[in-house]
Amino acid sequence: MDIYRTGIQPLLFSRLKVDPEWAHQQSLALLSWVAGRRNQFPFSQIENQLKSAFSINSTRLNQTVWGVSFQNPLGLAAGFDKNGVAAEIWHSFGFGFAELGTVTFHPQPGNPQPRLFRLPQDQAVLNRMGFNNQGAAALAARLAQQSSALPLPIGINLGKSKITPLEDAAADYRDSFRQLKQLGNYFVVNVSSPNTPGLRALQDSTQLSQILEAIQTENQENKPILVKIAPDLEWEAIADILELAQRYKLAGIIATNTTIRRDGLTTAVVSRTGKPISEEAGGISGAPVRQRSTEVIRWIWQQTQGQLPIIGVGGIFTAEDAWEKITAGACLIQTYTGWIYEGPTMVKEILLGLLQRLDEAGFDSLSEAVGSQVDSK
Ligand code: FNR
Repeated sequence: MDIYRTGIQPLLFSRLKVDPEWAHQQSLALLSWVAGRRNQFPFSQIENQLKSAFSINSTRLNQTVWGVSFQNPLGLAAGFDKNGVAAEIWHSFGFGFAELGTVTFHPQPGNPQPRLFRLPQDQAVLNRMGFNNQGAAALAARLAQQSSALPLPIGINLGKSKITPLEDAAADYRDSFRQLKQLGNYFVVNVSSPNTPGLRALQDSTQLSQILEAIQTENQENKPILVKIAPDLEWEAIADILELAQRYKLAGIIATNTTIRRDGLTTAVVSRTGKPISEEAGGISGAPVRQRSTEVIRWIWQQTQGQLPIIGVGGIFTAEDAWEKITAGACLIQTYTGWIYEGPTMVKEILLGLLQRLDEAGFDSLSEAVGSQVDSK
């Protein structure tokens, strides 16, 4: 019996109506505490038990991307562990990699609470956290203590500090990258969060090229740099970003962030605030972004003839969701909202489901499945 789905989740979500941000902070604090003691008895045992309950190991799921070796393609998406407080533990929950952040150069509190809402009727979450984080220096200090022992690849997602004017964005991203560049396996320029005023305007070619120029000038070690895009962009805007990807030798695209669209939702009113969903600011994640993010992945794969690695994210709850994104062209995938709804057994279920689909499709390894259901143009 799955205690999370039948007991904990209904209790937290419905019966006790526990504040989602509070629940998140408490879980993270607990995981961080365990992670910090993972080399001591009995915490080393706990870690082993987590691993045997939640992770699987199959060489058929291994891939090397950008020279980095990934044990499996499913990672924890950005926003969950913004400050890297539990970086060592994500491996024990079966994840193949974890993306920390979004981190900004200046520490910042984020938007006023409440700023995180569950929309269970839509299997979705609405958030307007606004990059609450302890800043790049704090993350760097934390990772510097841990990095020799980290058991999985780490991505670091960079955003613009709220106090930095948009015209100084490039230097702000560059300064964060400078602090952190030795400490991650890949880096993400996040220009797609709806919760920092003006941020998504940085997806525009001129603005984005200044940021990429500044970062690549600082990137003597040739760390993989990706751009994370919004699901709400028009094809033309995505095409412009792909052009920049070529010009600035980007390592890939992360598709996608949360959506600002509100159409197609069952939820009419956010129960916590009593306001219509259409009037609540923020980005929607989970099931409502699933199809659009897969479309974006497929389109990018087609445009680049599969030459540019894509991390696919948006609405992954099941192996079928994961398979759709991989066969549409994502070599790596991530989850956030699905993991909240489905609980910690989800990762293993998805990975087992992927192995089953590899068998059914007659593929030896996951890399053969990537983009396998995309029509060539
Ligand atoms: C996010 N997401 C996010 N993305 C990002 O690049 N930086 C961030 O700080 C955050 N923060 C964040 C907070 C919360 C509460 C949620 C639900 C999401 C977006 C996330 O990484 C992902 O792109 C989307 O949520 C879509 O994936 P899921 O959630 O549907 O699996």
